[in-house]
Amino acid sequence: MTARFVVLVSGRGSNLDALQRACEDGRVPARVVRVVSNDPGAPALARSRERGIDAVAVPHRSCRDRDEFDARIAETVRAAEPDWVLLAGFMRVLGPRFLTAFPGRILNIHPSLLPSFPGLHTHRRALAAGVRFHGCTVHLVDATLDGGPIVAQAVVPVLAGDDEDRLAARVLEQEHLLYPRVARWAAEGRIRIEGGRVHVEGEGAAPPPAARYP
Ligand code: GAR
Repeated sequence: MTARFVVLVSGRGSNLDALQRACEDGRVPARVVRVVSNDPGAPALARSRERGIDAVAVPHRSCRDRDEFDARIAETVRAAEPDWVLLAGFMRVLGPRFLTAFPGRILNIHPSLLPSFPGLHTHRRALAAGVRFHGCTVHLVDATLDGGPIVAQAVVPVLAGDDEDRLAARVLEQEHLLYPRVARWAAEGRIRIEGGRVHVEGEGAAPPPAARYP
């Protein structure tokens, strides 16, 4: 069975590209049926249209308040009948109206090892904090900023001489591997919540293969 994904984006869309490629080459048994952005100028929207993917803007600025934005974006997503909603660089917090429309079926990728560094400028903050390990997280979405049960993480060591851009690039490389992997679990219906924690059927407790660095 091919699952239906709707992907929400706000910017360049490199994670969307990684997901899209993984769907096309059969690593993920799913199809991106719609891309939705709060920003009509998002490069990810234009690129999706070029590829023939249905891409829709719901500009948050045209909404009276957060509630109206939530309702409009929920309607736009629901109309595409998704099995899963994947946030890929979607930079707005979604409210209860949206979350209750797709219970347990919304994933987000965030560029830190949550619960450390939710929000913006994660790489800068990780460097300032002096952490030795950084990375990215895919989690189910709840009403808190970058919050919800963790599905998978990839760890990236912080190397001597790292600056924000170098660290960000190495984390992004891992994001592009991690998100398709989790998307596959979602499409295969293997993600369950037990006692507030995520269990992935058939994966045991084994972490994803670690990245190799010098
Ligand atoms: C990615 O690094 C993603 O993890 C982050 O935005 C970037 C989007 O890049 N998301 C968040 O910070 C969510 N809180 P992309 O548009 O190239 O995928």
